[in-house]
Amino acid sequence: MALGGSESTMRPTLEIAPSILAANFACLGKEIQAAEQGGANVIHVDVMDGHFVPNISIGVPVVESLRKATKLPLDVHLMIERPETYVEAFAKAGASRILIHQEATCHMDRVITAIHEHGAEAGVVINPATPVAMLSEVLGIVETVLVMSVNPGFGGQKFNPGAYEKIRQLKQLRSRYNSAFRIEVDGGVGPENAGELVLAGADTLVAGTSVFHTPDAAAAVRRLHQLATEAISQKV
Ligand code: DX5
Ligand code: ZN
Repeated sequence: MALGGSESTMRPTLEIAPSILAANFACLGKEIQAAEQGGANVIHVDVMDGHFVPNISIGVPVVESLRKATKLPLDVHLMIERPETYVEAFAKAGASRILIHQEATCHMDRVITAIHEHGAEAGVVINPATPVAMLSEVLGIVETVLVMSVNPGFGGQKFNPGAYEKIRQLKQLRSRYNSAFRIEVDGGVGPENAGELVLAGADTLVAGTSVFHTPDAAAAVRRLHQLATEAISQKV
């Protein structure tokens, strides 16, 4: 993990990560193109197994197809039980980052190691009811920490403001330990809270409904970028 000096040198670059869960699956290629045109930095892919969360979404074959459809990094958010079983398959399918829930495995260190061994970046995710303190032993070995600002499983839910404090805590920890993990936030993110989230310390904003349930996904991504950039320049 890279070491940094001041907060501004340590802070990862801002990213907008459209979540395809809210896209029209019948024309996913076009939806991604629109997001790319708006300046999306990453494509967020929600994998759900109907057990860890009460919904079923997509799996390895879709990640394989997405890998051929875009050059952007694929941020694969595994909302599944026993994520260790699927790390290799998702890495081989083209996942750039594999994000695992703290609540989904009692072998977090082992899973993170496996993700790295398969050539992907590793991220750890916490649900709204999980405190940041649960991550103390892994903050030094992950590239991303994802704070859920809704209970995972569905798009279009209301943002839980408890995420702000967790993001602030993570930013302080990153600074205190001179680490470089990226702080990501997912759930109910849109133009109304993008600036405040960036001010709190979020580096990657995941947005599904506020991007794809609009008449112009490219414009929606552009707007989020603008709001995030304005917030960060206010801060500096
Ligand atoms: C929720 C998923 C999110 C979801 C976000 O379980 O992890 O990525 O797609 O959707 P919105 O932005 O609509 O809240
Ligand atoms: Zn997600």
